[in-house]
Parts: sequence; structure tokens; C-alpha cells
Amino acid sequence: MVEITSYGRWAVVTGASSGIGEAFAEHLATAGLDLVLAARSTDRLQVLGDRLSLAHGVDCRVVTVDLSTPQAASALAEATADLDVGLLISNAGGGRPGPLLDQALEDLHRRFTLNAIAHLDLVHAFGRRFVDRGHGGIVLVSALGAVHGLPNMAHESAAKAYVLNLGEALHHELAPAGVDVTVLLPGNVDTPIIDAFGLDRAALPIRPQSADAAVGEAVAALLKGRPLHVPGRMMRLMTRLVPRSRSVRMNGRMLGQAARNLAEREQARHDSAMARTRS
Ligand SMILES: NC(=O)c1ccc[n+]([C@@H]2O[C@H](COP(=O)([O-])OP(=O)(O)OC[C@H]3O[C@@H](n4cnc5c(N)ncnc54)[C@H](OP(=O)(O)O)[C@@H]3O)[C@@H](O)[C@H]2O)c1
Repeated sequence: MVEITSYGRWAVVTGASSGIGEAFAEHLATAGLDLVLAARSTDRLQVLGDRLSLAHGVDCRVVTVDLSTPQAASALAEATADLDVGLLISNAGGGRPGPLLDQALEDLHRRFTLNAIAHLDLVHAFGRRFVDRGHGGIVLVSALGAVHGLPNMAHESAAKAYVLNLGEALHHELAPAGVDVTVLLPGNVDTPIIDAFGLDRAALPIRPQSADAAVGEAVAALLKGRPLHVPGRMMRLMTRLVPRSRSVRMNGRMLGQAARNLAEREQARHDSAMARTRS
């Protein structure tokens, strides 16, 4: 089997400050790859880069970037122009559960830039570089929620569907040029996003898989030349067994509850801040 190091010396990982991106960084550094670590949280990236350099003797370059802004992905590509990058992990993403019409259009546009346009910009820039050098690897992190509409997360499921189709098509389009493309479809990976979305861990139908395990599967899928991969055996099984209409309703209900949990949490925070101001 091909090794992950065969793509070249450097890998770019977006959303490396947390969760799946951080696990990718750890996995790739352990394999000996030098890393460009990108996200908004400079301090977290710096601490991670220092730790990985010390533990594995790799070079790390931190690029602070807000990928929800229009030119950010191109700026990231430019910030790596001097490096022999052979692998792109386009992973940064996020969202907010709740009814679409309750959310400001401006926020939805910003999140579309993060969850769809940034992937396009990065794939366009690095895809061209990889084709020119005759070799490269790309992992696009979409979501299992991209395979059908998700009530109470309509916007993110639609944006992630764009990434799913983009990556699946490019898998075939770029293969003759020596560029491997795999789309990762996480659905239940144990990262801070679970709590940030207001999901109740006790109510999840399946225990979340560790980010390390999901990343191990993603790297294996890329090296095996798979166009798509759903991490976690139980999630793959559920995807096959649960009818689409049932999955739409089940996930929609869970995300509706998550949105209410978030609203309650924010109200409680607001009330305690008001009480502090008064005292
Ligand atoms: N965990 C799951 O089960 C699951 C399910 C479906 C999809 N996903 C997808 O998996 C990917 C990784 O998520 P995760 O679960 O690892 O969540 P996470 O722990 O919250 O990580 C999200 C990462 O994205 C970065 N990010 C968010 N907004 C950004 C912005 N505007 N500009 C640059 N970076 C930004 C964050 O860094 P900063 O905050 O420092 O910017 C962080 O490093 C996401 O695309 C997510 O949609 C995960």
C-alpha cells in the first residue's frame, strides 16, 4: 500500500486547532510529515505545533485564517506557496442547529463560505499545484448529514452536500493526473462540536467514535483510493439500515432538541451576566 508520506514533505490541515483536524495533525506528524496548521485560534495552533515538533521532529507553520471570509482560503494557499505541499486536509467547518428562518441571512452566507466556498477555493488552488507536480492527496471533510436534508440544520446539510459532490466528482476527474481525492462523511465523532451544537450526549443513538479512530480510517480510505468514507462501523451500518425518510425525521428531531438546549444555555448565561451586572 502507498504511504501517506509519499505525497510530499508538507501537509496543510485546516481546522487543526480542535477535534478531527487536530487528530489529523497528530496522525500526520506521527508519520513524519511537516505541517501547515490553519484555523482562527492562533494560540491553540501554536501550542499544537510546538508539541508536534518536539514529539516528532517535524516542522510546523501556523497560519491564522478565518475561512468564513471570502479571500481567506486563497490567502492560505499563498501562505504556503514556498512549501512542497503534497496533501490537503480541508476540514474546517461548523454551524448552528435551529430553524433556517430564525437565522440571519448574513450569518448563513458567512457559514456557506466556510462550509462550501473555502473547500472549493482550496481544492482549486492545491488541485492545480498537485496536478502540476504530478502527485497529491486531498481529503475533504463533509458530513454524513450531507446525504439528505437535515431539518434544523438545513443550511449545513446543503453546504456539506456541495462538498460531498465536489469531492466525489474530483476523485474521478483528478485520478488520471495522479491526485487522490477522498470525501470524509463524519456523523458521530467525539469532538467539541457535539457540545457546541447543544447535542445531548446521553441521547445519542450510538456512542461517538474517537477523532483518532475516524482519522485513521480516513487516511486508510485515501490510500486505498476510496472516493467516500463514513467513519465508524456502527454509523455505516445505520446508514445502510435506516430508511432515508426515517433518518431525516430522527435527525431533525434530535437537532431541534439541540437547538432548544442551546437557546436555554444561552438564556441562562445571559441571565447570570445580568445578575452579576446588577449586584
Ligand atoms: N464531529 C462530528 O461528528 C462531525 C459531524 C459532521 C461533520 N463534521 C465536520 O468535521 C469537521 C471538523 O469538525 P470537528 O467535529 O472536529 O469540530 P471542532 O472540534 O469544532 O473543530 C472545528 C475546526 O474548524 C475550525 N474552524 C471553525 N470555524 C472556522 C473559521 N471560520 N475559519 C477557520 N477555521 C474554522 C475550528 O478552529 P477555530 O475555532 O480555531 O477557527 C476547529 O479547528 C467540520 O467540517 C465539521 O462540520 C464533524
